Amino acid sequence: MPRTKDEYLSVMSLDEVRTARRFHESFPQYKKTPLAKLDNMAEFLGIKELYVKDESYRFNLNAFKVLGGSFAMAKFIAKQTGRNISDLTYDFLTSEELKKEFGQATFFTATDGNHGRGVAWAANKLHQKAVVFMPNGSSRARLKNILKENATATIEKANYDECVRMAAAAAAKTPNGVVVQDTAWDGYEEIPSWIMQGYGTMAMEADEQLDEYGCGRPTHIFVQAGVGSLAGAVQGYFANRYPDNPPVTVVVEAEAAACLFKSAAAGDGEIRIVDGDMQTIMAGLACGEPNTISWDILKNHVTAFVSCPDWVAAKGMRMLAAPIKGDPQVISGESGAVTMGLIATILTDEKYMALREAIGLNADSKVLLFSTEGDTDPDRFKPIVWDGNEEEALKI
Ligand SMILES: Cc1ncc(COP(=O)(O)O)c(C=O)c1O
Repeated sequence: MPRTKDEYLSVMSLDEVRTARRFHESFPQYKKTPLAKLDNMAEFLGIKELYVKDESYRFNLNAFKVLGGSFAMAKFIAKQTGRNISDLTYDFLTSEELKKEFGQATFFTATDGNHGRGVAWAANKLHQKAVVFMPNGSSRARLKNILKENATATIEKANYDECVRMAAAAAAKTPNGVVVQDTAWDGYEEIPSWIMQGYGTMAMEADEQLDEYGCGRPTHIFVQAGVGSLAGAVQGYFANRYPDNPPVTVVVEAEAAACLFKSAAAGDGEIRIVDGDMQTIMAGLACGEPNTISWDILKNHVTAFVSCPDWVAAKGMRMLAAPIKGDPQVISGESGAVTMGLIATILTDEKYMALREAIGLNADSKVLLFSTEGDTDPDRFKPIVWDGNEEEALKI
């Protein structure tokens, strides 16, 4: 694809990410999530090292997403009150003093579940309101988790991208209504760039943990994508961290919603949109319209885009839930495990030899994956992992 000026890479500068990290560290719930090292699996697959960042431990919310929504809300409040973000610690944000100064806003968002839960959780803690729109087919378990945070939440007869537009329209009609959406489009870039910086906390932790393990720079990073905010954040962070010799990055999508893959395959650098129901067990990846900022970062830096059917995610979930004896277990949900299923497939199935070679995956490779959620939908996790039946899970 034609290169651009790369003007959005600075969104994920190490300084910006450090600011987000410091903000998250002020939360009483903050603890680095584990970076699982799967030595026996690495040996079995024929690579040198394999690491999986386990976001099921994030703030007791079972997914990484809260990192983005919480930081964006704090940045918004900082801007409105004319304060520096470094003053807005958790204690201050939840104080009566700030409540009097900032007043009450209503944060609107659309979600498959994880982002909305993060926004609802943060709004609740910050004495603010949240309104959440969920697409057709969203799971009841995920809806319940959002309602528990005192948010207004509904499942709509609309897909994710339509829910985004509904959230924006509702916010425009509400006094002090603010859209906190985890994707950018032309004219809506500030909040999503803060969300991406919030995700940077996860990348920075992983980077430090790789150092602690003595691994240093990973040779390969596989990261899953819905709209691509997460992938842009991870790619952006590591491109800034290793400007001269960045890890090979592979972006992985659900086949039913592979908008980045389609955009990359078209080769002209323009975005392609996927429409319709986008039926997949990977609920978090069922988004058909790429984040415009992320897309700019991704098209300049990513080595390969891969589109995966559901069985790849299901295989990854089972491999992480039932590891080789001696390796740690990672409870990983449908959107969390697709990268594990993918590397196992391309390393063991000769059909994918060309891809393996194209990305230089071999016995010297040190691979980093992000398990971005735990069993956020337990009703689907069990039929997939226990019964080996992902088709059944899709009907739930
Ligand atoms: C668990 C999980 N992983 C990955 C993603 C993908 O993130 P993005 O939409 O920023 O690409 C999501 C998005 O909701 C998610 O919930």
